[in-house]
Amino acid sequence: MLVHRRTADLLDWRNAIPSGTPIAFVPTMGYLHDGHLSLLSEARRRAGTDGQVVLSIFVNPTQFGPNEDLDRYPRDEAGDLAKAASCGVDLAFCPSHPRELYPGTPAGTSSGADAAANTGATWVNVEGLDAHLCGRSRPGHFRGVCTVVCKLLGLVRPDVSLFGEKDFQQLAILRRMHADLFLPGTIVGMPIVREHDGLAMSSRNANLDPVARVAALAIPRFLAEVRRRFAAGERASAALVDGAAAALAPGRVDYVEVVDAASLQPVEAITGPTLCAVAVHFGGVRLIDNTVLLP
Ligand code: PAF
Repeated sequence: MLVHRRTADLLDWRNAIPSGTPIAFVPTMGYLHDGHLSLLSEARRRAGTDGQVVLSIFVNPTQFGPNEDLDRYPRDEAGDLAKAASCGVDLAFCPSHPRELYPGTPAGTSSGADAAANTGATWVNVEGLDAHLCGRSRPGHFRGVCTVVCKLLGLVRPDVSLFGEKDFQQLAILRRMHADLFLPGTIVGMPIVREHDGLAMSSRNANLDPVARVAALAIPRFLAEVRRRFAAGERASAALVDGAAAALAPGRVDYVEVVDAASLQPVEAITGPTLCAVAVHFGGVRLIDNTVLLP
């Protein structure tokens, strides 16, 4: 497995790939878990034996707000590279510094607000789909996500890029950006991977202390109750999520929303594919999860 740390080296590598070689791409922020590994395995399957699988590992400063967990985001590059190699990744792109992707960033600002504040002049903003859910509680988050993914797609020029459905809103926004900007390849969403006890896999789970880890099981329990009510015939959004704050306690609820799965706008009554999504803080760690309801 090759590891490149400079954008120039990634571009040289890409330009030397014979045309027609399938390229499958998995962008990540590292601290890989089984959810990421399912994306890499699917990437390997789609690239085939003649193709190339590219993984990027970059904790993107521009998608973190000033009071968010950029500096606490878990990192384990050596462990990530070992896992990537075992999944058959051909190239891991691990930028040595944010300025590899944001050339405006001065030397000496490797993380935090300084790095995020000096990141260049060009931004990608998908309007509308970020009005609710994480877009409302994390202003500027999706601008940072879209900007970095757009840069990465331009560099890697993949045939297929894979993202997890746990970040349902991110996937919807990236699909829209991809279509609107005629970006290369196709975007594929992959199902949420859960721990044995139902907690959705997330790099941030590593920051949960043992008490918060147990308490966080309120999230999958709550989503199971939403699905139970839906299966029993409930179609009113308010009734589906009634009692959410108590069910998710002692978690601090950021949002519990029921939205149309395509427009991501709130719905009062469910008539088509619908997303119930939550963001809840446990022990200072913000977790997200969701379930799709199909009438
Ligand atoms: O989902 C993530 O890990 C990140 O938001 C992404 C897509 C790699 C962009 O930094």
